[in-house]
Amino acid sequence: RKRDEPPEEAQAQRDNLPVLAEEPIKTPEQAPKKAITVPVVKKEPEHEPSSDQTSGPKPRPKSRPPKSFTDTKTNFTSLREKANALYELRKKLPIFGHADEIRQKLRDQDVMLLVGETGSGKSTQIPQFLVNEFWCRPTPAKVRQEDGSEKSITVGGCIAITQPRRVAAISLARRVAEEMGTPLGSSSPASKVGYSVRFDTSTSPSTRVKFLTEGMLLQEMLHDPWLTKYSAVVVDEVHERGINVDLVAGFLRNLVSGKREGRGGVPLKVVVMSATADMESLMGFFQEGFQQQEQEQQQGQNQISNGTENGDNSEQNSMGISACHIKGRQFPVKTIYSPKPVHDFVDAALKIIFQIHYKEPMPGDILVFLTGQETVENLENLVNEYAIGMDPSLPKIQVLPLFAALPQAAQQRVFAPAPPRTRKVILATNIAETSVTVSGVRYVVDCGKAKVKQFRTRLGLDSLLVKPISKSAAIQRKGRAGREAPGQCFRLYTEKDYLALDETNTPEILRCDLTQALLNMKARGVDDIVRFPFLTRPPREALEKALLQLLNIDALQDDGSISDVGLHLAKLPLSPTLGRVLLAASENGYDCLLDVIDIISCLSVENIFLNTTSEEKKEAAETARRDLYRREGDHLTMLSTVRAYAGENVDRKVWAERHLVSHRAMQSVMDVRKQLRSQCRSAKMLPREEQNSHYPDPSPDLILQSFLSGFATNTARLVPDGSYRTIVGNQTVAIHPSSVLFGKKVEAILYNEFVFTNRSYARGVSAVQMDWVGEALAGR
Ligand code: CDP
Repeated sequence: RKRDEPPEEAQAQRDNLPVLAEEPIKTPEQAPKKAITVPVVKKEPEHEPSSDQTSGPKPRPKSRPPKSFTDTKTNFTSLREKANALYELRKKLPIFGHADEIRQKLRDQDVMLLVGETGSGKSTQIPQFLVNEFWCRPTPAKVRQEDGSEKSITVGGCIAITQPRRVAAISLARRVAEEMGTPLGSSSPASKVGYSVRFDTSTSPSTRVKFLTEGMLLQEMLHDPWLTKYSAVVVDEVHERGINVDLVAGFLRNLVSGKREGRGGVPLKVVVMSATADMESLMGFFQEGFQQQEQEQQQGQNQISNGTENGDNSEQNSMGISACHIKGRQFPVKTIYSPKPVHDFVDAALKIIFQIHYKEPMPGDILVFLTGQETVENLENLVNEYAIGMDPSLPKIQVLPLFAALPQAAQQRVFAPAPPRTRKVILATNIAETSVTVSGVRYVVDCGKAKVKQFRTRLGLDSLLVKPISKSAAIQRKGRAGREAPGQCFRLYTEKDYLALDETNTPEILRCDLTQALLNMKARGVDDIVRFPFLTRPPREALEKALLQLLNIDALQDDGSISDVGLHLAKLPLSPTLGRVLLAASENGYDCLLDVIDIISCLSVENIFLNTTSEEKKEAAETARRDLYRREGDHLTMLSTVRAYAGENVDRKVWAERHLVSHRAMQSVMDVRKQLRSQCRSAKMLPREEQNSHYPDPSPDLILQSFLSGFATNTARLVPDGSYRTIVGNQTVAIHPSSVLFGKKVEAILYNEFVFTNRSYARGVSAVQMDWVGEALAGR
């Protein structure tokens, strides 16, 4: 065993474990010879109450959706057949044998910590194990209202499973719907599985299992702090330690230890799941909550009003936390290090991909870990170019990008099996590290880096930095090659570099802007931030900066409590700063708001323009985009691009290609634009009816002044030596080469992002007047 590998990984390498994917799929009746279409079977998977579900699907005479649903479009028989076929695969997942243990533990106790390797079945199976438990039924409860009277309500019935990423939430919901034999989300009123991610919610009145991003659960908590409709919340991928999961954990700790007193004491079960978690600290974290509660109760400060039978029962034995460890199934993966440091990992990855394709006899897809959309798209183009000249006797190559800002339909393509005689090459960001399982992968190429958010306290800004990953992330990446069979992992860094990596990822709360998190807490009534149960306490300086920023954008009142503006901002699906821009724009009239929505939609994707860094491409881009560029800067250029794209009636794809604009990015922009418009309509910031497509000339001054309402501190002025200095902090900053204002000299600039590569760059830049900046800063 190598020194650096954890015992589990080495153990898995020694064990010659059964091959999951290569076993024929058998149904309860027979194994189908070719396709996974199964004759109508009498048995079906566990989606009805049953006391012992591990013994397999129970026969049921007829399984139609309840009469009250009129869904004539859905073919329930074929859904059930598919579910039956999948049941055979589910039974082989490492977690399946633990179903009874997990159910029992959660009957006895309210909190469970579950650790299991990626792919062991946590995310897909846990909700199915729990959904028919007695405690998961809607339960009547009595709650005391403000005027002292009692009201009868229904609590629970639904399970929430949080995910750090949109793509995982949607693909898991789709998979679990298939496994449960139910239509997905809003496609049918009988659907039992749905999802909710920013800008896209798909649920039905019958939803019992809902996958949602951590951010969406926080949003739901703003409207319903007690999470009334849920019987359980499953917090998945806690090891990623994004800032939202830390907040979710803090709020949930208060809910479980406080016994949901505001909801008649009907318990909320919490399952915290992780591929690599530090169980002890999580255990300590929840225990501390229970202990505090106990102390408070002893002091006679707490009164629980509990009017329900279930609540009474569970109360007697639910104090505490259980843990469960699922041993994963991992085939040996050979690690091949780069013999010397790699300077251009895109180029190195390109070579390795074709080396594998030409030389490795073993079939299997290739998963490449890159840093972001830009490197993914660069490599995508290169692989496609080289594949044209490939030896025709070799299998074909299908290149599939996978990054967060990719439109959904394109993301889902990654999960479809490759066509015959084709090898899939998936080019992903760290999204594929633990969040999504792509089957068929036997080769991993790991560039060893990831883009991470880093808060620069001195500048008061978040910036995206490309940084080395942690050892734990490198092990996860490598593991993706050994899910179904032995594999190989090519690390584009030396063994020495690997050994020098940090052990684990730094929690995001220690390195990012806390403005949104703080706004969320304030909106939930957490006035004393210091007493909030943080999984890891953020630095005091960062908390103070965030408080100041919230005060700056009028989200807080002078005494630190939330203002009306703050409450409004907390409910918008945008960062508080962009939300503030939107509010300011709405004060400047509908036309300004519509224009600002278009620009904000562009900011929500990484880059709407195709990468044109080489000199020759730059010139081509200048020519192609001449009619889109605006001298005011990038914000107005984005607006003219959205307008031109939206107004293109013949072929948007061709239009995008001609202007060297990313069609894919623009599709996402249009999705977000639609959602933001509808959100603004519900918030009565826009008229209910879509205005006819009249498009008056934009008013650049009003638009840029709206942006200054949120970004007054993201400004710089020209100084006599010809460089720009930030107005807050007096730092030198250059306009990024990707900006239309690159090389231009204007009085002052406003920018969206501060990027550090070899020097400090401002990205997303527009020219503004110094007196506007003065006004915006003075108005605070
Ligand atoms: O949560 P964990 O990583 O432990 O596993 P999971 O996401 O529940 O995945 C279990 C298995 O379900 C995977 O190995 C895949 O074979 C399958 N799966 C799938 O086919 N499509 C998905 N979207 C998710 C899972």
